[in-house]
Amino acid sequence: MNNEKVIIFDTTLRDGEQTAGAGLTADEKLRIARHLETIKVDVIEAGFAASSPGDFKSIQQIVSEIRGPVICSLSRAVASDIDAAGEALKGAERPRIHTFLSSSDIHMMHQMRKDREAIMSMAVDAVRRAKGYVEDVEFSPMDATRTDPEYLYAVLRAVIDAGATTVNIPDTVGYSNPKEFAELIRGVFENVDNIHKAVVSVHCHDDLGLAVANSLAAVEAGARQVEGCINGLGERAGNAAIEEVIMALITRPDHYGVTTGVDPEGLGPVSRLVAGIFGFPVQYNKAIVGRNAFRHSSGIHQDAFIKERTTFEIMAPDSVGWRGEALVLGKLSGRAGLRSRLADLGYHLTDEELVTTFTAFKDLADQKKEVTDHDLEALMSEQHRFADIERAYRVDNVQVTAGDVEVPSATITLTAPDGHQRSNTSLGTGPVDAVCKAIDGMVDEEIELTEFAVNSVTEGIDALGEVTIRVRGRDGHIYAGRGSSTDIVVASAKAYVNAINRVLAMAGDVGPAPGQRV
Ligand code: KIV
Ligand code: ZN
Repeated sequence: MNNEKVIIFDTTLRDGEQTAGAGLTADEKLRIARHLETIKVDVIEAGFAASSPGDFKSIQQIVSEIRGPVICSLSRAVASDIDAAGEALKGAERPRIHTFLSSSDIHMMHQMRKDREAIMSMAVDAVRRAKGYVEDVEFSPMDATRTDPEYLYAVLRAVIDAGATTVNIPDTVGYSNPKEFAELIRGVFENVDNIHKAVVSVHCHDDLGLAVANSLAAVEAGARQVEGCINGLGERAGNAAIEEVIMALITRPDHYGVTTGVDPEGLGPVSRLVAGIFGFPVQYNKAIVGRNAFRHSSGIHQDAFIKERTTFEIMAPDSVGWRGEALVLGKLSGRAGLRSRLADLGYHLTDEELVTTFTAFKDLADQKKEVTDHDLEALMSEQHRFADIERAYRVDNVQVTAGDVEVPSATITLTAPDGHQRSNTSLGTGPVDAVCKAIDGMVDEEIELTEFAVNSVTEGIDALGEVTIRVRGRDGHIYAGRGSSTDIVVASAKAYVNAINRVLAMAGDVGPAPGQRV
């Protein structure tokens, strides 16, 4: 066993944000970055500086606050992108520029419309320019798994000579399989004579459901950086679920013979934070972070499990931060208890934040006897939702009548960004439709509701319901809004208003705008 460390490179804030239907505010990105810092990932790809002013600012914000992990910005292999990345990363404790360029014939011919020679010199120029800003430069030959291996080796050799300190082999379209991908990585080690001067990284997409398997096969073949996203988010079918890669390496040191510096106890909380912020719930049977991942249903399994946990559990649930639905706080809990429980979950509150959070906690504890970790996480999301977008619309009151006799109606009271309260009543085909129509009547914004989903945070009749609403804004983009409450109609009103606030923020009508997607 060699016990070398595998560098964990999290790209939730960059490739993850390319998930269709995603779009985060700078504050939301910062909150995720804080959790990634807490769990000690090695590299945070904070965004793509040149893609939008929002992304640029968000990277700067992360640079100014996060200490520990390397902070990285993506850039195409063009001067203006590299300059934007270099500028955004100014002042970072450990900055990295990650520059990429397609290397497969299919991409060069149809996307880049350039020949191999031109691509090679662009790659070298890009790395040299990035070196003018930072010492730590990563280069990715995009679509590497469909690239002629001899050309791939030549590109890698050239960019390492130009100063690349990490060479990343992306399976951009999720085309490879573990055997073939491991062979490619071995080929890189055998055929690139200066490869010892760089870290070999992998970045796998999940189009065939093989992203984690391919990443692990690459580690077996010698790769020492793995890129991925929390909950497997990312372009199309997503990236390797980084929590699965981490736990495979931690659970099977006998097999992989490597270590990671990540604290796995934070994986559960960070997964739920990311699911809540992105508005993409985690599937129940998802490895490591799904709510069924540590539940035993069969009587035979339960019997053996009670006798000896390891009969049917290869990881302890609490080792990945699964405290499940254990009762943690209630009506009689005080501020100190709340603050310390939230700190365990990765939320460090100022005195001022504690005052408002404690009030919201008491309201929740009045409605729910048992306030679990999951409830607290939902409550924190709810608190941040309105703090993130200043001068937004706020829901003050929701009154609905519904049923199968009368036409459903809703009366909503909002505080508008100008500070004035407005009320409106509307009928609808159901209570949620009535709520949305009543809100539409007070907000002068054309939007189209495209998705409505309800998810319960915990179990039981008094569970907190979390509603995700996606709307199409006037610019044609999709915006997600979220809201939670023990009453799902109230949660729907909050989610709808949250989505509207995001549309308005993007248009510059209220508060700071969310970062635009690449
Ligand atoms: O999938 C991919 O090839 C990428 C690159 C930018 C690394 O995301
Ligand atoms: Zn990717």
